[in-house]
Amino acid sequence: MKNDSPQKIVKDIKSFIELEKEAGLNEVVFKSVQKLPVEAPPSDEPCFVKDKGEALGQLKASVLNCTECALSKSRRNPVFGEGSSTAELMFIGEAPGLQEDIQARPFVGKAGTLLTKIIEAIGLKREDVYIANCLKCRPPQNRNPLPSEVIACREFFIKQIKIISPKVICCLGKFAAQTVLMSEESISRLRGKFYNFENIKVMPTFHPAYLLRNPQDKRLVWEDMKKIRDYLK
Ligand code: URA
Repeated sequence: MKNDSPQKIVKDIKSFIELEKEAGLNEVVFKSVQKLPVEAPPSDEPCFVKDKGEALGQLKASVLNCTECALSKSRRNPVFGEGSSTAELMFIGEAPGLQEDIQARPFVGKAGTLLTKIIEAIGLKREDVYIANCLKCRPPQNRNPLPSEVIACREFFIKQIKIISPKVICCLGKFAAQTVLMSEESISRLRGKFYNFENIKVMPTFHPAYLLRNPQDKRLVWEDMKKIRDYLK
């Protein structure tokens, strides 16, 4: 964005507004972003949160009360995330689906069962890692998240990452990878390589829901997971 031409910025704003209109939103409301309880450190400093459990608890309370975007009206439950607050490995998906919305837990449907197998394949248990999503509330009919929803939720998952400060973030699918890395590159091009986010290694890979439809690509995810396992050794 910083080096984009004015034409590109105008084009991006136009497509942003088109997407919002398609979803039935007729006005764009600019609000100051709510102040969250855990202060983020300057971007290149490591985060030393003394009590990660307590910091996550405070952040979760903000998520549970959040009304920053229209998804707060259609959700059954916000899905904050779960796992070890001291995890070395954190998974980030896109947004809760139906089962997640009902159970208020991330990755509990069919894709979640596959994610648990992927975690176990590198010798870890689901409780050893932390699992969260970019969006904390389910988009109706599992439609793609809107730019305004991503903006409204971004501060939450960035703070979640900074509190946990894992060694590796594994982004599941195009949406999580593009959101964390602020990239427009396809997941096929992004996956399989380490990137940096706030001094944390980021490995994008395919989403487990994609693997359920394209099992032939499980082999590529296994390659990506081995890189994570070797880095964490
Ligand atoms: N897909 C996601 O991206 N997240 C979930 O929690 C479930 C399915």
